[in-house]
Amino acid sequence: MLVIDQVVKRYGELVAVNNISFEIKRGECLGLLGPNGAGKSTTISMMVGLLKPDSGTVRLDGASPDSNATRRLIGVAPQALSLYEELTPRENLTFFGKLYGLSAAKLRDRVAWALKIAGLEDRARHRVHTFSGGMKRRLNIAVALIHQPTLLLLDEPTVGVDPQSRNHIFDWIEQLNADGMTIVYTTHYMEEAQRLCDRVAIIDHGKLLALDAIPQLLAQHGGQSVISGRLEHIPSDFSLPGTLLESDWRLESEQPFDVLTRLAQSGVRFGSVQIAGPDLEAVFLKLTGRVLRD
Ligand SMILES: Nc1ncnc2c1ncn2[C@@H]1O[C@H](COP(=O)(O)OP(=O)(O)OP(=O)(O)O)[C@@H](O)[C@H]1O
Ligand SMILES: [Mg+2]
Repeated sequence: MLVIDQVVKRYGELVAVNNISFEIKRGECLGLLGPNGAGKSTTISMMVGLLKPDSGTVRLDGASPDSNATRRLIGVAPQALSLYEELTPRENLTFFGKLYGLSAAKLRDRVAWALKIAGLEDRARHRVHTFSGGMKRRLNIAVALIHQPTLLLLDEPTVGVDPQSRNHIFDWIEQLNADGMTIVYTTHYMEEAQRLCDRVAIIDHGKLLALDAIPQLLAQHGGQSVISGRLEHIPSDFSLPGTLLESDWRLESEQPFDVLTRLAQSGVRFGSVQIAGPDLEAVFLKLTGRVLRD
């Protein structure tokens, strides 16, 4: 659907996006995961035609993203809120709907729909500057959806959001995606990418380090599961794998259940045991040598 080919963007000496290529497939939810300053927002801006790449191309269904026809297909909820604080949500939605040339009747329907799915119906006549961070974020997303785009780009949609709004946003994104909308979800929270996204692109220092479905990323770069626990009894002639400090035991393994079964059969008794599977944090660490969050 959207093809990014060898895209480079520089700010002076800094290469913010360094020769990135990938494709967004119709109907998927693609995560752009990377730490602060990785180049996520710059990439989004080029996808919607707000920034021109220094080199490389972006094509949406074969066309440039800054043509009028293409722009109607894309909705973007930018990281920096794009709302008029002195206006009400109804006025904001109406204003942006008019920019897209919606007819009066259509506009009325769409505004009513947007207020409902954003959970802002009972605040429709209050000014935005009185809203919580979560309400503003929800409205920012609703504005992006007013003209019924087929591709929705969300840049850090849960920053500054309380847990209730966060869950509202997650359920909402899942529903939109289930209804067929293609979604790009930018975040530096790996749990969000892990919950919402079919595929995840891992970006750091302007480079695309990996892009794949999460199980594949975990299998390729995630390393092993970590088993840890307290041991109550170890048979005297038993050679225990892993490390044991006092009675705290730890072992990395690709087959944690097999290991535990073998130990139990050999007479090892456990007080407690946990298995932590590899996660995207481990993938990121493996690829970059640093943790995702500062
Ligand atoms: N207008 C600009 N002028 C100069 N440098 C910029 C500009 N916009 C971004 N940068 C720099 O480009 C790099 C990439 O920034 P970008 O905003 O794309 O990262 P990001 O992954 O979205 O980060 P964050 O998680 O903080 O939003 C950063 O080093 C940033 O400081
Ligand atoms: Mg950003």
